[in-house]
Amino acid sequence: MTETIIRLENLTKRFGNFTAVNNLNLEVCRGETIGLVGPNGAGKTTTIKMIAKILRPNSGKILIRTNTDELQDIQKLSRTISNMGFLIDIPNFYNMTAYQLLKYFANLQDYPKDRIEERIDFLLDLFNLSEWKYKNVKTFSKGMTQKIGIIQAIIHDPEFVVLDEPQTGLDPLARIEIRKFVRELQKQGKTIFIASHMLHEISEICDKIALINHGEIIGFDTVDNLEGAIKIRSIDVKLLNPLNPEKLGSIIETVTEKLDRYLDHNLDPTISKDPVEYSTHEQELKIFYVGKKEVRGEILKILVKEFESDFTVVSFYKPKTSRLERIYAQMMKTDNGRIELLKKRNK
Ligand SMILES: Nc1ncnc2c1ncn2[C@@H]1O[C@H](COP(=O)(O)OP(=O)(O)OP(=O)(O)O)[C@@H](O)[C@H]1O
Ligand SMILES: [Mg+2]
Repeated sequence: MTETIIRLENLTKRFGNFTAVNNLNLEVCRGETIGLVGPNGAGKTTTIKMIAKILRPNSGKILIRTNTDELQDIQKLSRTISNMGFLIDIPNFYNMTAYQLLKYFANLQDYPKDRIEERIDFLLDLFNLSEWKYKNVKTFSKGMTQKIGIIQAIIHDPEFVVLDEPQTGLDPLARIEIRKFVRELQKQGKTIFIASHMLHEISEICDKIALINHGEIIGFDTVDNLEGAIKIRSIDVKLLNPLNPEKLGSIIETVTEKLDRYLDHNLDPTISKDPVEYSTHEQELKIFYVGKKEVRGEILKILVKEFESDFTVVSFYKPKTSRLERIYAQMMKTDNGRIELLKKRNK
């Protein structure tokens, strides 16, 4: 059985009259990568700050599994928890060199003294920052500072890594580096909790997504299951050449006819007007279907066999990014995303 690493129980945080986190429940198991996704002000950073003991909840509990192997209330643990590492918000560091700063944090976390130098060099190298080792972090760009923030979070090689918007300020290449780095942590069996707006990044690396809005979790599941719950199933079909504009209308019509029994005719119009769409820009057909995943195979067969003279399919895939974007948009559309979600699930 997978072991719970952290459990948030009825967690609530108020600032004056304002409730930033409202009765939040969440459980993360060992080795899982969980994405906390929600709009600005949803309560992501507040939740993470409570886990890091920077903020104290008004009510509820945070239980974590420490080295003693018991789930324990973090408020009852006297010191910072050494098997956790945090990157919170955009870090604002002291006037120090990267080396001094990382050594300071490693010591703070009681990392074995004889391995600190090696650890710092290894991580600076991993993030392409070796040549900046003896430069003052105050002179670093936003992206470099963010990378130092990530290194600081894992300098002591924690089991549980919590990253708040790790991709902030990073260029596309650095974002790929971060993704690779998270995969590396996953291979080592680490448990990872990431708050982010970057749906693409999140859907690529996370096992499960917790959607948060107005301080409440409105969905917590795999991308596949979240999608199932709100019944959006789509496939993107990339074509070798653009469709002939003169024939476009009739081709779409025939595709719709031939695929009729598989198509989703009760689509939410905010998602799409028609179950078959064509994007000239992407050179892609988007097909909204119903039923099991085997249906995708049937659809592909029909498209390849019956439209040989109209187009050539070069790829056929479930769009991960836009799926999550659609799910997200759908849930955030109403103040009461959760109710919407439950309604659809019970249909
Ligand atoms: N110290 C504070 N005092 C008063 N209100 C606060 C404080 N910290 C956060 N808030 C409020 O709590 C809400 C949640 O903020 P939080 O920073 O957790 O959001 P977030 O999900 O991390 O957003 P973002 O995506 O912008 O980082 C916001 O409305 C914010 O204004
Ligand atoms: Mg935040």
